[in-house]
Amino acid sequence: MINEDEVGDMKKIYLFLVLSFMVIGLTACSNSSVSNNQTVPISKTNLTLTEITKHNSATDCWMAIDGQVYDLSQYIKDGLHPAGDRIVNGCGQDASNMFHQISKHNSGRAIAILPTYLLGALQN
Ligand code: HEM
Repeated sequence: MINEDEVGDMKKIYLFLVLSFMVIGLTACSNSSVSNNQTVPISKTNLTLTEITKHNSATDCWMAIDGQVYDLSQYIKDGLHPAGDRIVNGCGQDASNMFHQISKHNSGRAIAILPTYLLGALQN
């Protein structure tokens, strides 16, 4: 037979387990980088022009093109740009005009690369 003390202990253990799962569940939901599987750290969601101007070098290069913000640092670091360092001229600004002025960019190849480096939509 189970005595009253044991029933009390079992209730405590049950309560502890329920509370533990609630805490684990809430922690997982409140951390957006886990719940929506995004690779961009939460601190990088401030995609304003003011923020973009701070990332204006070859090693830290953000660019706005057609209302989207891209972090091209890795693309530059990997030496993937066919025209070399000329891409750095667009770092830290809205480079939409600079980008489209080069006719080769509009052939599709350059535009197809962009999504790989997308941070998100440009904010006001
Ligand atoms: C906004 C600053 C940029 C400047 C000044 C720039 C400059 C250039 C220039 C001058 C060319 C032509 C090279 C040639 O005639 O052979 C070129 C080609 C190219 N650029 Fe850029 N670029 C910029 C941004 C980008 C970005 C953001 C990407 C994509 C991530 C990109 C990808 C490419 C590709 C793929 C080509 C070759 C296109 C082809 O031949 O089909 N560029 N770039």
